[in-house]
Amino acid sequence: MTNSTDTLTTLVSSTCAQAVAEAEGISAAHIPLGKVYLVGAGPGDPGLLTLKGKGLLECADVVVYDALVSPQILAMINPQAEQINVGKRRGRHSRLQDETTQLLIHKAHTHAIVVRLKGGDPFVFGRGGEEMADLVKAGVPVEVVPGVTSGIAAPAYAGIPLTHRSYSSSVTFVTGHEAAGKYRPKINWSSIAQGSETIVIYMGLHNLSHIVAELCGAGLSDQTPVALIRWGTRPEQEELVGTLGTIVAQVAAAQFEAPAIAVVGDVIKLKSVLERPH
Ligand SMILES: C[S@@+](CC[C@H](N)C(=O)[O-])C[C@H]1O[C@@H](n2cnc3c(N)ncnc32)[C@H](O)[C@@H]1O
Repeated sequence: MTNSTDTLTTLVSSTCAQAVAEAEGISAAHIPLGKVYLVGAGPGDPGLLTLKGKGLLECADVVVYDALVSPQILAMINPQAEQINVGKRRGRHSRLQDETTQLLIHKAHTHAIVVRLKGGDPFVFGRGGEEMADLVKAGVPVEVVPGVTSGIAAPAYAGIPLTHRSYSSSVTFVTGHEAAGKYRPKINWSSIAQGSETIVIYMGLHNLSHIVAELCGAGLSDQTPVALIRWGTRPEQEELVGTLGTIVAQVAAAQFEAPAIAVVGDVIKLKSVLERPH
């Protein structure tokens, strides 16, 4: 492990480290060892990655990435960088969360620019808050670079505006998959159904029949439109449109699988007018 008095310049000879230091308004000679950037990769279309995120990928010494990051974005990574896949998909945990955090802490002590690359936005159902808190606690410099979240981008690419003056003045983003043992109360589907005209559900496919039952039980009509968008913004994007009364059977019939965003609400009626040609 490198001595903690080492600087970015001694760790990496690249001009990237200098550029990052200058952009942050500090002399490279005074930067403490290593920094972790929590970068949002966006939903898949490489054109939706931010310029800041792209610049960091090109400079990175280490990139620790998740399962939902698209191959075109991985292709932008500095070819000299160490690349580590810590991807998790439902039922397939390649690395536990604690191990990932320990890995980031270790890499920040041995490398200058460590990018933690996450699908969508790191702070939207991405555990970015937890990872950042652990890094801060460990004394590791860390910065978040927001990304375009799938809950906005996937509906947009499917021709669904989440708000519209004639259809919806409110939108709620909610997870359909709550972490076990978390301290917050269970999701209050009833108050969401009554208080929000558009509902955007992440990770909802597995619990879809339960969610539909909760929303209908809270008073939403079974005629309420529902759209599912799978692999949104990617060339393989797929959509399924129905109502609260039909969507569960449609998912089973089409064998529609994750990752998908579900949108519930009248804004879906605009889809036929606004959708892009595929
Ligand atoms: C752990 S959450 C991460 C969300 C991510 N941080 C974001 O801001 O988009 C994973 C879920 O996001 C949704 N998701 C991510 N990328 C998607 C995409 N390209 N198309 C549709 N849904 C996507 C799915 O609901 C998936 O199960």
